[in-house]
Amino acid sequence: MCGIIGYVGKQDIVPILIEGLKKLEYRGYDSAGIAVLNGDEVQIRRVKGKIKILEDSLREEQLKGTYGLGHTRWATHGRPSEENAHPHRDCSHSIVVVHNGIIENYIEIKNTLKAEGHKFVTETDTEVIAHLVEKYYSNSLESAVQKAVKELVGNFAISVVSKNEKDTIVTAKVGPPTVIGLGEGENFISSDLNPLLSYTQEIIFLEDGEMAVITPNSVRFSDFEGNSLEKKAEHITWSPLMVEKQGYKHFMLKEIFEQPQVIRDTLAGRLSLDSGKVFLDEIGVSESTLQTVKRVVIIACGTSYHAGLVGKCFIETLAGVPTDVVYASEYRYEDYILEDNTLAVPVSQSGETADTLAAFKSIVEKNNPSLAVCNVLNSSIGRTADGVLLTHAGPEIGVAATKTFSAQMAALALLSIRLAKVRGAISMEDNIVLMKDLQRIPHKMEEILMRAKEIEKIAQQFVSYSHFLYLGRWVSFPIALEGALKLKEISYIHAEGYPGGEMKHGPIALIDEKMPTMVVIPRDRVYDKMLSNISEIKTRMGYVIAVAFEDDQGILDKVDKVIPIPATNPLFSPFLTTIPLQLFAYYIASIRGADVDQPRNLAKSVTVE
Ligand code: F6R
Repeated sequence: MCGIIGYVGKQDIVPILIEGLKKLEYRGYDSAGIAVLNGDEVQIRRVKGKIKILEDSLREEQLKGTYGLGHTRWATHGRPSEENAHPHRDCSHSIVVVHNGIIENYIEIKNTLKAEGHKFVTETDTEVIAHLVEKYYSNSLESAVQKAVKELVGNFAISVVSKNEKDTIVTAKVGPPTVIGLGEGENFISSDLNPLLSYTQEIIFLEDGEMAVITPNSVRFSDFEGNSLEKKAEHITWSPLMVEKQGYKHFMLKEIFEQPQVIRDTLAGRLSLDSGKVFLDEIGVSESTLQTVKRVVIIACGTSYHAGLVGKCFIETLAGVPTDVVYASEYRYEDYILEDNTLAVPVSQSGETADTLAAFKSIVEKNNPSLAVCNVLNSSIGRTADGVLLTHAGPEIGVAATKTFSAQMAALALLSIRLAKVRGAISMEDNIVLMKDLQRIPHKMEEILMRAKEIEKIAQQFVSYSHFLYLGRWVSFPIALEGALKLKEISYIHAEGYPGGEMKHGPIALIDEKMPTMVVIPRDRVYDKMLSNISEIKTRMGYVIAVAFEDDQGILDKVDKVIPIPATNPLFSPFLTTIPLQLFAYYIASIRGADVDQPRNLAKSVTVE
């Protein structure tokens, strides 16, 4: 839930740590800090608040060194404050630790260490790590860290430096991601790829139970028992430009505009119009499994859960396979009846969401076949599954998911066409039509994006409203949920997503001239039903904005405002209907001056339960 960056080499370290933290800031942003070492001196700078505040403080008083660590925090133990901000130190201030995760047994360890004379100065769980390493340190940081991590219960990615071991970072992990970037005479550690892209594309992912000792010219790997490990570098294709705003005011807006390309990239090389085949060789689930599974269970949280709901419509409509979509955080404590022949599909942009990972692991233990839909390479969820259907959305920096949502829907559309084909659920003709419909989506998305200014104008009229209702049915219901989530998380306006038909069972009581309703109404099997729902709102003085097909002339006199989108196969309409809702939320938040890319209280990947 936090971001870690580490550097050892000859360059000026502070800009590397600060720029790195800015790229990790989406992971948490309530406090930040760095430690810069030059051998015999440990210099720490920490602030409550965002990286910008840290940067300003460093401008006033500069730090110099050759190795060090940076951290951006999303508080779990200990309120956000300068004191609780990382890095944390031992009693002698010679050992410095940054940590992402939670140490579940920290109180026990703290009590033992206190009884042994260690002095604690923060409310955090992390501080125990610094004192444990101090306790075990004699002449090797590596072996002290090794002994310390064996006492920790919970999940952690830690990096440790000491003024007694010049130009050395020791890093270890169980749970949250750690990536090591290999340079020439310099090396890096980071919580994800983004900060490393400007320096190197040669990457090594640390696995759970592994640690590394990093110096400017070497990286050595071992397990927690001290057995050395050989690990190979991977060359990654993400480019530094992908993590820049490139002229957009916010990453979120840039990412909304990237969606046509993201769909093209996610479909690329996976559809053959000649054979009607969907090539998903990497998914690790055999054709015979796809032919025989009796059920699919999609496990996800937040926006990924909404993509899962859309996926359910795709799979049930095209392949006829019963599909459940479960909130990962609920699944863990329910008595879900998981049958043998059920394909588990965790959907997670980051591949690190703690709830999704834990729920999914409990399924994997039962030996069910599994296939993860993830955007991040080598993620924990991806590695736990039989295979990964990778979405090619590139790095998503805005905390509110946009392009990864569309990419997840594209991945689930591919899976459902593949399922339908191998199970003989659709004719060759229908198969080809579906593929063509899917391939036309990016162009239609571009047409909607060309009308962004019109959506901005509509948003301007609604900036001062406090409540919104979002309605949709069937395949548009998840889009109503997602539209409402986007609005509330970035603009802090209360918004509720509802299935259109449910409105009369309660929410209709809320309708008045102060609560506008956004209706998602492509011309589909529930179009007429949705028109009735609109009329129920209009008769109660409600204001209705409709996202509808541009050739739908009938809608014009039934609602107050229409946001037109190109007509498409109704099943695939979520790819299009979602864009106006993303833009509407974005412009409202932006006009209200909200911190669009880093909304309050949120973090991009939620690696705590
Ligand atoms: C909302 C949002 C979150 C994530 C959720 C799951 O805009 O981004 O609701 O969708 O935290 O994250 P992943 O997909 O990384 O598992």
